[in-house]
Amino acid sequence: MLLPTVGCTFPQATYQEDWFYTVHKQDSRINEPRTRLLMNHTYRAPEPFKIKMVEPIRLLPREERERILAEAGLNVFNVPAEAVFIDLLTDSGTGAMSEGQWSSMMQGDESYAGSPSFLRLKQAVEDVTGFPYVLPTHQGRAAENVLHSALIKAGDIIPGNSHFDTTKGHIEFRHAHAIDCTVNECFDPTLDAPFKGNVDLAKLEKVVDEHGVEKIPFVLITITNNSGGGQPVSLGNIKEVHAFCEARGLKLFIDAARFAENAWFIKKREPGQENRTIREIVAETFSYADGATMSAKKDAIVNMGGLLMLRDEATYQACSTFNILFEGYLTYGGLSGRDMEALATGLYEGTEEDYLTARIGQVKMLGDALHDAGIPTLRPPGGHAIYLDAKRFLPDMDQELFPAQALTCELYLEGGVRGVEIGTVLADRDPDTGKNRPPKLELVRLTIPRRVYTDNHLMYVYDTILKLWERRDQVRGLKFTYEPPLLRHFSARYEWL
Ligand code: F0G
Repeated sequence: MLLPTVGCTFPQATYQEDWFYTVHKQDSRINEPRTRLLMNHTYRAPEPFKIKMVEPIRLLPREERERILAEAGLNVFNVPAEAVFIDLLTDSGTGAMSEGQWSSMMQGDESYAGSPSFLRLKQAVEDVTGFPYVLPTHQGRAAENVLHSALIKAGDIIPGNSHFDTTKGHIEFRHAHAIDCTVNECFDPTLDAPFKGNVDLAKLEKVVDEHGVEKIPFVLITITNNSGGGQPVSLGNIKEVHAFCEARGLKLFIDAARFAENAWFIKKREPGQENRTIREIVAETFSYADGATMSAKKDAIVNMGGLLMLRDEATYQACSTFNILFEGYLTYGGLSGRDMEALATGLYEGTEEDYLTARIGQVKMLGDALHDAGIPTLRPPGGHAIYLDAKRFLPDMDQELFPAQALTCELYLEGGVRGVEIGTVLADRDPDTGKNRPPKLELVRLTIPRRVYTDNHLMYVYDTILKLWERRDQVRGLKFTYEPPLLRHFSARYEWL
């Protein structure tokens, strides 16, 4: 095992406030990067769980990683998971289920119609979100497919904040348009602001005035805004968007993949919300919406599953037909009975404050440590991920040479860490001009799975990034050796320049 060695005993820790405690410097001789992390950082409260089952991981020797990445065409999507040491590709479906979830799976009832597992899921959805109607789907994009099939037609406009790629894909597939109305703060990676995911009401109003309400089947708020850095949307902003939509007779939907993390940020950052429970904030959040799609693979901590949740019967009926067509019958959709059981339990567990504090605190710990070490990251840390700012990491590299993709490769070579490019490759070519469309933010996302890695794993990630930072002038750009016509991110192949 090629783990870096540290010649120190673990420093003493003392509690400081409700969820952080400070680690004091014990030994002034220590100056390894990873011990710098230990010494300089406030530490989080312990996780409200212990580990019952473990899965071995292994760091392959550097030469093997080089061979594997070359065979993968310098695309980490093509790297076998067993050749990855710390996998930060996504937080989607990669969480560790609890004993409660595993044991509820044993009660899964696989009846085609009217399964009690569906009724338990429906009850959990109602308890947590307040929505009376629910259609289970196999994942988040399937819920989008069903909803969009019922509501969107060619030429329509769907304004929102940083639509996720699959959402945008489903909109554009129907020859409709997603218009981004996120606040400008979102596009400044150095700005530390509490709600960089908010919708800019002036931008939204302009879009509605320009296109007219009849072209807008719904407005969409994504919580948290994954594409914009996992940044939250404030309850005040959701309320304002709701009031605007109501005044104009528009429907409001929520993409709720990370709804619980969003509620935690509201509790911690929004004045007047600090004494409420996460469940109260979640319930109020959803009360402003006509419906929501949810990838349950994130905050509901299941490995597979999605939900389409609705408030009115007419929309439910319109969507039901498409659910039966694309997913499955109404009381199971895209899921087996046992999947629905795990999801029902996950909705309750994922909205527990202590769990969220530990989870978001762990992400923040990595983000703050990198920031303090001078590594350019998007600020502040998101709820589910830290994003390296490739434009500032490699300031001399043209975006056409895919700096974020180059860093993603180097991170794997340096320490077997797998992140994901969120930059020029992901943005695809402009369908009209055929040119690359380099986005404002060129990022490497380090996505932290839920309840999977320890702080020590993340210290190793930190250390790997610091080593890469120290030799950043050696990082070369990339060019395609194979570029598929669409969604090139997943299957493109490259060579070093
Ligand atoms: N909406 C958001 C905000 C997402 O982040 C995702 C998935 C989806 C919808 C689609 O859900 O994957 O269950 O079909 N995000 C994953 C990620 C893939 O890595 O960020 P899905």
